Amino acid sequence: MKSLRECVAEAREKKVAIGHFNISNTEGLWGVFRAAQTLNVPIIVGVSEGERDFIGVKQVAALVKSLREEFDYPIYLNADHTYSFDRVKAAIDSGFDSVIFDGANLSFEENVKIAKQCVEYVKNSGRDVLVEGELGFIGTSSKVLDEIPEGVLLDESSLTDPAKAKEFVELTGVDMLAPAVGNFHGMLRGGVDPKLNIERVKEISGSTNIPLVLHGGSGNSEDDFKQAIANGVSIVHINTEIRVAYKQGVMKGLAENPDEVAPYKFLKPAVKAVQDVVEEKLKLFNNL
Ligand code: G3H
Ligand code: ZN
Repeated sequence: MKSLRECVAEAREKKVAIGHFNISNTEGLWGVFRAAQTLNVPIIVGVSEGERDFIGVKQVAALVKSLREEFDYPIYLNADHTYSFDRVKAAIDSGFDSVIFDGANLSFEENVKIAKQCVEYVKNSGRDVLVEGELGFIGTSSKVLDEIPEGVLLDESSLTDPAKAKEFVELTGVDMLAPAVGNFHGMLRGGVDPKLNIERVKEISGSTNIPLVLHGGSGNSEDDFKQAIANGVSIVHINTEIRVAYKQGVMKGLAENPDEVAPYKFLKPAVKAVQDVVEEKLKLFNNL
């Protein structure tokens, strides 16, 4: 079985991206896994601090490991947006394949300090865990938005600076970087977010020379994804679109079966709805 590190390196070389999809429960996990299996591509399951608390930190690690082993399948688990060293440590100790220390809201110095501490911890753990750093604020919540999140600025001078990104990577030793390139968490109502700054993606990829991770993928256009991937993005994160699909699936399942009380029956449309969104994105990210 390839490691996540090898899969990311392969994606980077082939100029495709691995899809990263957030889940909150086993319905989400099956939807994501079935989509990946259908297309036979590697996949990353992501859990934010709230999502992993809902499922259970050790429990989600055990679930993903069980799929990897039973199906001999390249499915990996990421500790998405983790805001403290202690929680990064807990994820590493629980068997996650990658962790994101999200210090985007801290000072540059504090962000560097904790990201570096995470990298050191992995080195001493003897486990092969990828550490992702974040530079540039892109909002915090995966939800449907009426306006661009407060604190997110899309003008060129507010996006991640390529020279600062290089410095951050050199000082911390992170394996991957999440920059602010016109992306933000959540999706504007109507489903169309502003265009990404592809030139900035290219510049940051050039200055850091490590794989870039595009967060906030919900609401971005096909063309933006294609260009971002061609210019240095090796992982794309999607959450809001899955949450919307899941909720619609739950409502459909309940509306169609008003007398049904068995969750495994009325939640089937929710699993299918997640699977459909993930399949569509995976085709795009993997050039299929
Ligand atoms: O880490 C999660 C993602 O960046 C999700 O962003 O909710 O805009 O798809 P999204
Ligand atoms: Zn994110």
